[in-house]
Amino acid sequence: MFLSILTFEIFLQSIIKNTKLNPLLFLFKRDKFFSLKDMNILSVENLSKTYRSGNRELTVLDQVSFEVEQGKTLSIVGPSGSGKTTLLGLCAGLDVASSGSVRMDGKALENMNEDQRAGIRNQLVGFIFQNFQLLQTLTALENVMVPLELKKRKDAKDKAKELLVKVGLGDRLTHYPNQLSGGEQQRVSIARAFANEPKILFADEPTGNLDTETGEMVENLIFKLNEEQGTTLILVTHDLELAAKTHQSLHIKGGKIQEATHG
Ligand SMILES: Nc1ncnc2c1ncn2[C@@H]1O[C@H](COP(=O)(O)OP(=O)(O)OP(=O)(O)O)[C@@H](O)[C@H]1O
Ligand SMILES: [Mg+2]
Repeated sequence: MFLSILTFEIFLQSIIKNTKLNPLLFLFKRDKFFSLKDMNILSVENLSKTYRSGNRELTVLDQVSFEVEQGKTLSIVGPSGSGKTTLLGLCAGLDVASSGSVRMDGKALENMNEDQRAGIRNQLVGFIFQNFQLLQTLTALENVMVPLELKKRKDAKDKAKELLVKVGLGDRLTHYPNQLSGGEQQRVSIARAFANEPKILFADEPTGNLDTETGEMVENLIFKLNEEQGTTLILVTHDLELAAKTHQSLHIKGGKIQEATHG
């Protein structure tokens, strides 16, 4: 009896030590322990970003806090200049906050150096940029192959081809970005983000440059990724119909959350 209590105690201590969480956060569900905090793929706390221009300070994000559970979808809406792209970049570890904290998959990004943040991005993140950010000296196919080659995938070329076919660009594989329309470049950047098989996908106005039909196709692909692979989606959009399809919505204005809704 004493031995089994001791074993249980050691077991509990090792969980607490490994997760660095308050034991009170543990719940007993069916036959396994899990913690409330572990359910969040993204936890943002009092995040602020300030730029200095001349001798003035410009606060573009002001004490933003929110949480997203693994496998859920979140939309961020707000007027131009309200800080949406800045917020996305900070959450994805592409940029560093002035203060506050971002935890991705339980790891605090502010405690990491640039290399460590790049490692986490390669491992977990897909990013669809508002301005595409394709490498101009690489073809569509080569752009999509980059994340696959970083992961040393032997089937990089075939996988990249398959993804480009999925976004309707099977006949544009060897085009360079400057030989593609805005919407086509957008779709290459979507295929590249998918190539990483991300746990969390950040998309900055993913349907912003697309006609209605192509926009719907891209929207379906993104939500399919969420449903089939459990990829968490964080979408910036001006499209309120698209925003209404996500589990949670943040309305930001002047760098502050005006309203947070859970669907
Ligand atoms: N490097 C920078 N230096 C100074 N100010 C910046 C910098 N980057 C962004 N800003 C300012 O931060 C504010 C928020 O920019 P951000 O790109 O996040 O807006 P947004 O909500 O994505 O807008 P849009 O809908 O037009 O894409 C803007 O006023 C912008 O001018
Ligand atoms: Mg933006």
